[in-house]
Amino acid sequence: MILVLIGYMASGKSTIGRILAKKVGYDFIDLDDFIEERENMAVTDIFKIKGEIYFRKIESQYLKAIVSGKSDVVLSLGGGTPCYHNNMNVILDTENVKSVYLKASIKTLLYRLKNEKSKRPLISHLKTEEGLTEFIGKHLFERGQFYNQANKVVSTDDKTENKIIEELVSTLF
Ligand code: S3P
Repeated sequence: MILVLIGYMASGKSTIGRILAKKVGYDFIDLDDFIEERENMAVTDIFKIKGEIYFRKIESQYLKAIVSGKSDVVLSLGGGTPCYHNNMNVILDTENVKSVYLKASIKTLLYRLKNEKSKRPLISHLKTEEGLTEFIGKHLFERGQFYNQANKVVSTDDKTENKIIEELVSTLF
């Protein structure tokens, strides 16, 4: 199986994915890290130098290469991955792929993202907390239609990492 973790920036995809993979004996792939290795460039630099359209193109290509070529993997996507090209359909239609949306509230995301803006090209320009709150709210609303198509939706607010992982292991493995 390939277990695909979906969710907004800072929803815990990479942290949960890494621990979960270890627990069930799967490989772990973080799509952003995979892209950075293959392109030999940080995601922030890809956005800056080559632009978002280029990033979305290669993000989709690498996603397809991973889901069609691997098994026994936990794959954490970037926050935007399900929302571009036909990526969400690929995730839903590929045999052996299960998807989980790690759902977090605006409040939780704001708390985590306000000190991490520099690493995130889409929010690095937002100067105030109000601006960031509004951006997250609108963005989450737009992206929800993709995220909510996942096979399973797990609310992560006020849950420990262990509790979330237990929930995933008991229903998916
Ligand atoms: C993005 C999220 C990032 C990264 C890129 C774009 C997005 O990944 O792929 O900066 O569109 O939400 P994380 O969700 O791992 O931060």
